[in-house]
Amino acid sequence: MKKKIVTVVGARPQFIKVAPVSRVLRQQFDEVLVHTGQHYDYNMAGVFFEELNIPKPDYNLDVGSGSHGKQTGEMLEKIEQVLLKEKPDGVLVYGDTNSTLAAAIAASKLHIPIFHIEAGLRSFNKKMPEEVNRVLTDHVSSLLFAPTSVAVNQLASEGITDGVYAVGDVMYDAFLYNLNIAKEKITLKDFNVNEREYYLSTIHRAENTDNETRLKAIISALMEIKETVLLPLHPRTQKKLSNIGLLEKVKNAKNIKLLEPISYLEMIYLEKYSKGIITDSGGVQKEAYFAHVPCFTLRNETEWVETVNVHWNTLVNPTQEKLNEIVGNYQVVQYVEGIYGDGTASEKIVQYIDNYFNK
Ligand code: UD1
Ligand code: UDP
Repeated sequence: MKKKIVTVVGARPQFIKVAPVSRVLRQQFDEVLVHTGQHYDYNMAGVFFEELNIPKPDYNLDVGSGSHGKQTGEMLEKIEQVLLKEKPDGVLVYGDTNSTLAAAIAASKLHIPIFHIEAGLRSFNKKMPEEVNRVLTDHVSSLLFAPTSVAVNQLASEGITDGVYAVGDVMYDAFLYNLNIAKEKITLKDFNVNEREYYLSTIHRAENTDNETRLKAIISALMEIKETVLLPLHPRTQKKLSNIGLLEKVKNAKNIKLLEPISYLEMIYLEKYSKGIITDSGGVQKEAYFAHVPCFTLRNETEWVETVNVHWNTLVNPTQEKLNEIVGNYQVVQYVEGIYGDGTASEKIVQYIDNYFNK
């Protein structure tokens, strides 16, 4: 009989990561897909299931938004019920959201092996909710799929060496699989921009949205960019801007084109032909590198240190540095291939899960 894996996802980047892995996993395993409902707007969730042909979730826990404790607690309770009913052989989790942590706690209490994709990432900033989620998840996981050797070494420095495998990054698998599909479906005309004449920006990280001084500085910095800035806005940021009375200013800014969150195919297409990317997203930093486009990251630190080390990513503190000058002065350097693997992370992950059950 096939082994049963319960996969838990809930937030936008997890839908993108689950697509390539699920495709391979289902060839060998019985996968039960759980969507916690952490993200629920059509353009934050449903669009990705449709566009990336992700199987319909077997369970939608409909948890929605809330404070960290409330959201994580409700997920924990509901995921436990699913696990008690399904009795899986393993639980697969992705990244570092509250959905990841809730699944990891639920599974560990029931002694179900946890397989963590994107293990070993650290920002060393415990004020980030994601940092707590990833550290705790790594420490209860049986298989830890690290995207890079830096992540493997980090886990070793925390005493975790068993079950750790460097497999590359599943977001690279997704990017390679979907870029040609995007080229067939999307054009720059849809967004009224020309190749290499615009910047693409996303902002959603709590440290930027929840700090009024920082959020104001980011908006001012984007308004100083000479070129057009396409800004597909996360609902969290939209709400914060509205609360502090800045949304109208952004809407009226001459160089900013404010958009609702866009689909993954639209996103990678716009990344590919942009002049550069300005973001605080984890995934988008990597995609800038996959797309061979310079990235400017509005954070004080990043987990994706390799992108900075090869000079395709620059950290910018918007309250202390001039973004438009840094962006304008950026000189393209030679591209270093392969820092996130070769696009076969999903196959490697499924092989290691299979080996785990056959050891
Ligand atoms: C979460 C993850 C973050 C990840 C991001 C990806 C945690 C702690 N954070 O942050 O690591 O980078 O997802 O996008 O898990 N909202 C809506 N509609 C939605 C979803 C959210 O309006 O479909 C609004 C709500 O006001 C909500 C807020 O966005 O309170 C924040 O959503 P939440 O999922 O709590 O955190 P994110 O900032 O999205
Ligand atoms: N993304 C998208 N539409 C958008 C913004 C982002 O499809 O409007 C995709 C992006 O291409 C990447 C992923 O969402 O694949 C990144 O997710 P997000 O920035 O929400 O979270 P993070 O990676 O920071 O956890």
